[in-house]
Amino acid sequence: MNMDPKQFVPPEHDAAKRIFPIVIVGHVDHGKSTLIGRLMYDTGTIEAGKVRELETAAAKRGRPVEWSFLLDALELERDQGITLDTTRIWFSTRARPYVIIDAPGHHELLRNMLTGAAAAEAAILVIDAAQGMGEQTRRHANLLSLLGIGQVLVAINKIDLIDHDEVRFNALADEIRAYLGRLKLKPRAIVPVSARAGDNIATISPLTAWYRGPSLLDALDQLSPIAKLPDADLRFSVQDIWFRDDKRIIVGRIDSGRLALGDELIFAPSGGKARVAEILNWGKVKSTSGTQAGQSIAFTLDRQILIERGAIAHHRGKAPHVGHHLDLQLIWLDPEPLQLGERLTLRIGTQELDGHVEKIHNIIDLGTLSPEPAHTVPANAIARISLITRKPIVADPNAPLSASGRAVLARRHRVVAGAWVTELSNHAGDNLTPV
Ligand code: GTP
Ligand code: MG
Repeated sequence: MNMDPKQFVPPEHDAAKRIFPIVIVGHVDHGKSTLIGRLMYDTGTIEAGKVRELETAAAKRGRPVEWSFLLDALELERDQGITLDTTRIWFSTRARPYVIIDAPGHHELLRNMLTGAAAAEAAILVIDAAQGMGEQTRRHANLLSLLGIGQVLVAINKIDLIDHDEVRFNALADEIRAYLGRLKLKPRAIVPVSARAGDNIATISPLTAWYRGPSLLDALDQLSPIAKLPDADLRFSVQDIWFRDDKRIIVGRIDSGRLALGDELIFAPSGGKARVAEILNWGKVKSTSGTQAGQSIAFTLDRQILIERGAIAHHRGKAPHVGHHLDLQLIWLDPEPLQLGERLTLRIGTQELDGHVEKIHNIIDLGTLSPEPAHTVPANAIARISLITRKPIVADPNAPLSASGRAVLARRHRVVAGAWVTELSNHAGDNLTPV
């Protein structure tokens, strides 16, 4: 099938409504692609001609419409390199526009999410009603917890395969709720759906008259955007220092909070202090006096202090942690296991430091979720380790959604793990917070 890539540019939308990024996860064959196709159909994202084409093809085969064919067509283009960015699928409800974050292959998706290249604000966990939670369902649920994606909707799919049965649905819903609860995830809704037939996707289905909750799209519209980052403490990651006309210009990104003209900034880890003298816009003096989270900016300071790439600027009394001894919760992605004592490169924001694995505390058993002692960490395992670096690191422990809380580990320049910092100190158990 030929798809017009232009069809997948962001839909027209009210600029005031921010695009809401979501990710759809679940065990192989449980119906993720079908659900995405159906969401596109139900929100009018697919042009009528394309729908007729799918219906004709289905009628010829005497089978129901396969909404996942829409996705297959996109994947084909992606493989052939025809479309630049088919990893993002857009649709809009009356409430707001959405983008589904996807990647060619499960591993790429994991990598993108872990490296922060694709930050989802909510997830839909798709589970086959007849099969129940699969191995990957558990893995994905752990990952959502690890990434701090707390807003989870569960779609119990293929409800037709269990004859739209309330008792079987409730039993599965209870099991899922209990498992997610142990991961500190509380599903906002557990919706019985048929992605293929469209039951409870956009409208409530008479086939599940016992179901009292929202449709999947209504449940999506009820989710709230993640707490506004501009309201958080200032974290400015230094990317570069430019010299121009005798001026020293600090270039970087405001990861969270706000930065304004005249602010006193403290640069961790050195502790150097200076005030913002000018905020620049690509060389020109900027008219606005303040800037906020998500923006890349350049500014000058009122005095000369030593600043290097990787430094994090903050306001007084709102310092991140600084130390050499770091505890990480990680998901290991490389086929070659992580070894005790091995040297790795740690990246947090614009910081890049070498460290060695001092301790492997445990790996998490996905079935029971209990920590098990381990000497190595195999592919896809979730583990807690301690890392020691020579130079001090700056980070915010237990803030997996912030740039300064999330880490990436690389081995010989290849990303091998995504992680978040759970502790940072100069010695085990001693948290050091400067200024
Ligand atoms: P992978 O991408 O391979 O992980 O699979 P997936 O999760 O994307 O599943 P996909 O959407 O390809 O669906 C797998 C199969 O389940 C297809 O044959 C679908 O037709 C079927 N399926 C999806 N939704 C439903 C449903 O609601 N009811 C029934 N009976 N079958 C469904
Ligand atoms: Mg699929």
